[in-house]
Amino acid sequence: MNYDQILERRRSIRSFDSKPIKTKDLLAIIEAARLAPSACNSQTWRFIAVTSRKHIQQICDQAMRPVIPNRWIAQAPLVIIGCSQLDVIANRIGSGVTGIEYYQIDLGIAMEHMVLKATELGLGTCWIGWFKENKLKEILEIPKKIKVSAMLAVGHPKSEITKKRKRKPMEKILFYEKWGQSLKIDE
Ligand SMILES: Cc1cc2nc3c(=O)[nH]c(=O)nc-3n(C[C@H](O)[C@H](O)[C@H](O)COP(=O)(O)O)c2cc1C
Repeated sequence: MNYDQILERRRSIRSFDSKPIKTKDLLAIIEAARLAPSACNSQTWRFIAVTSRKHIQQICDQAMRPVIPNRWIAQAPLVIIGCSQLDVIANRIGSGVTGIEYYQIDLGIAMEHMVLKATELGLGTCWIGWFKENKLKEILEIPKKIKVSAMLAVGHPKSEITKKRKRKPMEKILFYEKWGQSLKIDE
């Protein structure tokens, strides 16, 4: 699969069969994250690979939020928890000066690397951002000083998504040279 095919194939998959994820695939996914860039190369990301049915069921039952309860994650053979170590000094100083939370950017990049690698391996993924951080930390014994910003469900997709994806048009998201100015595309 080339890069464009990976981008095209990646969709948020919320339905998985029961086949487990091979350890070599898990390691390849985490290696993709390990290669990601990070502010000051601070590599503040830490990941927990959760495969235990008991823990995944507990996450589903106790750490989800109302309205979008993400019940489907109970079927996922693997849930990767995206954590950040906040006490990395270069990162804290940088964020204090600019007001930009670099650890969040770093984690997002690393986790999307994982998503794209998993896609290449024929696996489906879905980001999960709607959860109760405190409950999740309790279940997985994550220390208080660690920030958990996202999770990734990973599994063998039950079916392909064929529905066309909804995206804003190019002219709405790309300004050229200055805010509000469109790029004129020569025919
Ligand atoms: C940071 C983040 C958090 C998300 N949280 C959830 C979530 O809690 N539950 C869910 O079902 N999908 C979640 N999604 C998936 C989005 O709904 C999905 O990416 C979007 O609808 C576009 O669809 P696509 O991924 O198939 O292109 C999340 C995506 C991101 C990037």
